[in-house]
Amino acid sequence: MIDLRERRDGDDERIAFVVRRAFAGEDEVKLIADLRADGDMLLEVVAEREGAGIVGHVAFSRLSVRSIDRELRAAALAPLAVLPTHQRQGIGQALVQDGLRRLQALNVELIVVLGDPAYYARFGFSALLARLLQAPYSGDGFQALELQPGALGKRAWDATYPPAFSKMS
Ligand SMILES: CC(C)(COP(=O)(O)OP(=O)(O)OC[C@H]1O[C@@H](n2cnc3c(N)ncnc32)[C@H](O)[C@@H]1OP(=O)(O)O)[C@@H](O)C(=O)NCCC(=O)NCCS
Repeated sequence: MIDLRERRDGDDERIAFVVRRAFAGEDEVKLIADLRADGDMLLEVVAEREGAGIVGHVAFSRLSVRSIDRELRAAALAPLAVLPTHQRQGIGQALVQDGLRRLQALNVELIVVLGDPAYYARFGFSALLARLLQAPYSGDGFQALELQPGALGKRAWDATYPPAFSKMS
């Protein structure tokens, strides 16, 4: 049984453990800490398994997406982590789907991610759609998903990530 819930006070040490083990390093642990400290974190969801505690985590941060006369309510998905011993059991997928549902309820219109298209295409993320965004990232790994269909229209947009992302090595 997996329970998906929002991050609570007291979760952070265990979240850092899960993220450190999933990425085998500190960069993503620091990214999460910086996003929280800067007030740029929009949503964090954890996956809890009975007897094992938190085994997965996903973070969504604020993202500025502007065109000449409009600003979208947007978020960046990063990072997504599942404890190696619990991978390939659908936990990553459940975390992303739950996060997207919660963000839709918050009227978020657009999500972007930088990751493997082979993984993120299943949620509807598209590199083609992300080409409408002028951003620090590009290529097939940079993908976008409209939670409000047609949110991007056909115009060009500037996407600006929170400062914590520029501190990533
Ligand atoms: C990526 C990650 C979160 C997936 O979590 P998970 O719980 O194992 O994923 P799920 O069980 O929901 O999905 C497994 C499916 O995704 C595929 N998959 C898993 N990781 C993948 C990857 N890096 N690239 C492509 N496909 C991947 C598997 O083949 C599997 O597909 P299948 O069900 O058709 O066999 C997990 O592997 C992880 O923490 N990796 C290290 C950190 C990372 O790279 N995060 C993503 C970048 S932000």
